[in-house]
Amino acid sequence: METQTLKGRVAIVTGAARGLGEAIALGLAAEGAIVCPWDINIEGARQVSEKIRAAGGQAGHPAAVDVTDAAAVRSEVESLARDPGRLDILVSNAGILKVHEVTEFPEEEWRRVIEVNLTGYFICAKYAALVMKRQRSGSIIQVNSKSGKKGSYRNSAYAASKFGGIGLTQSLALDLASCNVRVNAVCPGNLLDSPLWQESLFDEYARKWNISKEEVRRKYTDQVPLGRPCTYQDVVNVVLFLAGDQSAYMTGQAINVTGGQEMR
Ligand SMILES: NC(=O)c1ccc[n+]([C@@H]2O[C@H](COP(=O)([O-])OP(=O)(O)OC[C@H]3O[C@@H](n4cnc5c(N)ncnc54)[C@H](O)[C@@H]3O)[C@@H](O)[C@H]2O)c1
Repeated sequence: METQTLKGRVAIVTGAARGLGEAIALGLAAEGAIVCPWDINIEGARQVSEKIRAAGGQAGHPAAVDVTDAAAVRSEVESLARDPGRLDILVSNAGILKVHEVTEFPEEEWRRVIEVNLTGYFICAKYAALVMKRQRSGSIIQVNSKSGKKGSYRNSAYAASKFGGIGLTQSLALDLASCNVRVNAVCPGNLLDSPLWQESLFDEYARKWNISKEEVRRKYTDQVPLGRPCTYQDVVNVVLFLAGDQSAYMTGQAINVTGGQEMR
């Protein structure tokens, strides 16, 4: 019989109501973790909890937490520290993206992207680390992006937030290493079948470049040496590795899951 690699470990996944966060929550639960889905979309987070249970997994408390709200993050983490009494894995996945050419970028939208993607990661990692330091173990994983390592067209706020996320990952890793808390990031390529692409980016890029949505898809797929878009499972595989003991000697890393796209 196959053993579950994360049996009984307590995990938080932020932005877990849909998309990649949902896939990560389900993937961690399939490996035996007790997963708490957090999202500003509480109905979506509750549905993910139900899916975890329907698949035979253990769901923790689904919470309506905005990652930029330090008081809410602190209070939810403290309640986990009381019951079930530990926190082993934090996946900082919640993220937003606003597409504008730099001279047309509204300052308030720019600030909000940094606030959610970078400051939100800091806030969640800070309060998770308080518990993990006490128990002298834990794995913090940030969902970053290939745009955390290379500038991104009409995407300055997102790229800036993700570059910052890698600096934060390395700095957290240095601060927390002596307490046996590891901090790593995963940098996916384009998840072309995610709601983010399907519901907004395809339309937006097709309009901006005056090409069809199929041409937008081809343009992005052609940039990938392995010749296909990134899938949720590609990213989940690496998150599971970083969450578990097989990556025990890794900290401060930002791992590309891009089909080789960053080499082009
Ligand atoms: N979709 C892609 O192609 C792609 C590629 C690389 C990296 N990523 C990264 O993956 C992560 C998830 O992206 P996705 O495509 O699944 O996005 P998505 O928009 O489908 O899902 C994001 C989730 O985060 C939640 N959220 C937004 N703001 C929040 C906040 N302040 N507090 C709590 N929850 C909040 C949303 O309600 C939503 O459920 C992001 O960090 C994104 O940068 C996505």
